[in-house]
Amino acid sequence: MTAQKQIYKCNICGNMVEVIHTGKGELVCCGQPMELLQEKAADAGLEKHVPVVETTDKGIKVKVGDVPHPMEEKHFIEWIEVITNGGGCRQFLQPGNKPEAEFEIGVQKVVAREYCNIHGLWKSS
Ligand SMILES: [Fe+2]
Repeated sequence: MTAQKQIYKCNICGNMVEVIHTGKGELVCCGQPMELLQEKAADAGLEKHVPVVETTDKGIKVKVGDVPHPMEEKHFIEWIEVITNGGGCRQFLQPGNKPEAEFEIGVQKVVAREYCNIHGLWKSS
């Protein structure tokens, strides 16, 4: 059984999907079950991944992380999203961008998630 907002990845072709409606079935890609990505919330290594959420005049700014994460061709933050009670929104990033995103939303209480192409899925605590 899936759950809303879960993110699954195919470890063969790299497809990633987010669940927007739950179902009983198993998600399969390239002939094998997709991996449910676990949200990590505590940094252990040198690079920092836990999203840092700040309020701004426009809304919410999310930085990855408390020391800026690399944004190189081989290692970068692919996207940052904020999750609110009513849904949420996501911004996609490219190598060379700053590892941060600003969301013009009126909600002050959010959970932020981000995906590093090497180190996986992270969320704010
Ligand atoms: Fe990383």
